[in-house]
Amino acid sequence: MRRIITAVGARPNFMKVAPLHRVFKKYPDISHRIIHTGQHYDDNMSKVFFEDLGLPEPDLDLGVGSGSHGEQTGKIMIEFEEVVAAERPDLVIVVGDVNSTVACALVAAKLGIPVAHVEAGLRSFDRSMPEELNRVLTDALSDFLFVTEPSGVTNLLHEGVAKEKIFLVGNVMIDTLIACREKSRSSYILQMLNLQPKSFAVITLHRPLNVDRRESLELILDAVEQISVRCKAVFPVHPRTKKMLKTFKLEERALKIPNSIWLDPLSYFDFLHLLENAALVLTDSGGVQQETTFLGVPCLTLREQTEHQVTLEEGTNELVGLDEEKIIQKSFEVLGGKGKAGRVPALWDGKAAERIVDILIKHLH
Ligand code: UD1
Repeated sequence: MRRIITAVGARPNFMKVAPLHRVFKKYPDISHRIIHTGQHYDDNMSKVFFEDLGLPEPDLDLGVGSGSHGEQTGKIMIEFEEVVAAERPDLVIVVGDVNSTVACALVAAKLGIPVAHVEAGLRSFDRSMPEELNRVLTDALSDFLFVTEPSGVTNLLHEGVAKEKIFLVGNVMIDTLIACREKSRSSYILQMLNLQPKSFAVITLHRPLNVDRRESLELILDAVEQISVRCKAVFPVHPRTKKMLKTFKLEERALKIPNSIWLDPLSYFDFLHLLENAALVLTDSGGVQQETTFLGVPCLTLREQTEHQVTLEEGTNELVGLDEEKIIQKSFEVLGGKGKAGRVPALWDGKAAERIVDILIKHLH
């Protein structure tokens, strides 16, 4: 019996782990356990995703919660070390680029347990982003680096990672999207919000660079206000963004934007249905850039760079940074039917998890 622990912590991790868990279940000689660090703890940021994605309750929840980066990362390491030291699994899998990812990878590597990183090699080359530091460090600690797109392979080779450790396997987040697409189409979210398909914009926002600074947040609200003259703007609000709107006393200003709909974080099915039917998406999320590329929905990314290079090269994604004029001009172009067309990148075919598990099983036996 081979024992594998997958560590998850924050919302986007859950979508990446679900297809892996499904494939592992087919192997009776593999015990696959999911350990939740508790980085995200609100039901609508965590529990609802386990339910929607058919994931079992985590085998353990470390209950770490929020905190400064050092505090959160440190607490995860203390708690996760106890588990790994006691259980001595054959492999620890970490996904994505959140604080839980780097914390758990570091614990496992120091205990001499092999580490697999799913979604390795992506680089924004902006080290002011906490996720970029998490990515670089996690990759340096990992034995198996599973990559979603060609730029990831190039980046890892430049950093001196041995090519035997690098596997271009595709995108587990897209595995989940494909698996859930039919089901998401029975969501009632459009009716509930009284939205016609392709008549509205979806906005998601949570990067510290955009929401932790008053001037950035105000600039984005100004842009949304102008866009909302042309179409409804639907805004599921991340807890960090909600907190910052409150801190900067911008809540009322936001709620006053005509034609805008402000929501709590949505379930996976509702959000996917909303994305698929949007005329335009404005986001600073990494996951949403990939999902819109797969769905062929025009996406404007409110960042200066992206680690998901393929979404620019082949997909529907365009960078607009925090340039208000550009955000508005590009949005109007998209709404006028001049959005960027794209194609689905290679290996984004719903089978990435199968490829990953195949490779791991060959190496673990
Ligand atoms: C984290 C990840 C980010 C990822 C995002 C997805 C890091 C460094 N960042 O950012 O890469 O894109 O998750 O959502 O790991 N909060 C709640 N309830 C929750 C979780 C958070 O209220 O369930 C609030 C807390 O006040 C917390 C704040 O949101 O301080 C931020 O949470 P945190 O986990 O630190 O980072 P995110 O901004 O969510």
